[in-house]
Amino acid sequence: ADDEGRAAFDALIAADGRIEPRDWMPEDYRKTLIRQVSQHAHSEIIGMQPEANWITRAPSLKRKAILMAKVQDEAGHGLYLYSAAETLGATRDEMVEALIEGKAKYSSIFNYPTRSWADVGAIGWLVDGAAIANQVPLCRASYAPYGRAMVRICKEESFHQRQGFEILLTLANGTPEQKAMAQDAVNRFYAPALMMFGPPDDASPNSKQSMAWHIKRFSNDDLRQRFVGMIVEQVKVLGLTLPDPELRYDEETKQWIHKELDWVEFMDVIKGKGPCNAQRLERRRVAHEDGAWVREAAAEYARKQQLKLAE
Ligand code: 3HC
Repeated sequence: ADDEGRAAFDALIAADGRIEPRDWMPEDYRKTLIRQVSQHAHSEIIGMQPEANWITRAPSLKRKAILMAKVQDEAGHGLYLYSAAETLGATRDEMVEALIEGKAKYSSIFNYPTRSWADVGAIGWLVDGAAIANQVPLCRASYAPYGRAMVRICKEESFHQRQGFEILLTLANGTPEQKAMAQDAVNRFYAPALMMFGPPDDASPNSKQSMAWHIKRFSNDDLRQRFVGMIVEQVKVLGLTLPDPELRYDEETKQWIHKELDWVEFMDVIKGKGPCNAQRLERRRVAHEDGAWVREAAAEYARKQQLKLAE
């Protein structure tokens, strides 16, 4: 059966088809998807914290309402993605436990502090912008539930990116202090946003297999390049600058040459030693403990329902 299964799987992948939960799949395919999809889900959930920091401090009711809507969307993205990972056999408890115990990764970008209101703009424009560049190709990931989750998530991300851009545009056209605040936020989030795409291709252990299985459609560096090409134009509209004086387009290689990224810092951050890792996990652990009564009540209710059905 495994030989037939593998032949069917290989044929589906070769035909650029989609794998559904009930289809046979190699254990390593299942494992790498649980790894990526669960860490993607963790990123969405932890990603709520930096922005939530500004919900009570938003400069107007309108901004507060928009930010609340965005943070709630991120929670929903996390739930879609945990559900997609559950179709592969992972359980919610295992995934949440791995996150809380510091065993699972989540996007490096959320381990940086949000120091001013302008950071909410920089996160929307740069972080959600990078997320879109990374997630649009994932809509065509060979694992169908993951691709389907991405379609809905990408639609909501475009609202996230637009509201962030609009915050920065408002500040950049405001008082000199507001413009300086917006520029400072862009200066702090530019390099970490470029590193969101992952290590350089020659230091990316998962890419080769992930691309062979049509999970990853473009390499880390390709998507980083695409993203730089987008923000170079958008930053002009903002009237701000990217903190990268060396940034230029090489006509020969058709590549954007950006400044060296700090991969030592990146490795520290993904190993849990970033500026905010400890507080992000502590907040997540406390929220999980505070929510225990809800899970217990739901489980008890389900048990009683089962008893009723069994009568
Ligand atoms: N943050 C944390 N860890 C990262 C990372 C990052 N930015 N980039 C890479 N890594 C990790 C990888 O997970 C891998 O470690 P692991 O094997 O223990 O999982 C290691 O570094 C080597 O990286 P690879 O390039 O070999 O790994 P991948 O092939 O998995 O590529 C990736 C990394 C591009 C992030 C890929 O996993 C991916 O596309 N994931 C889904 C996208 C995602 O997670 N996006 C989160 C963005 S934040 C977000 O969406 C919220 C937004 O709404 C604001």
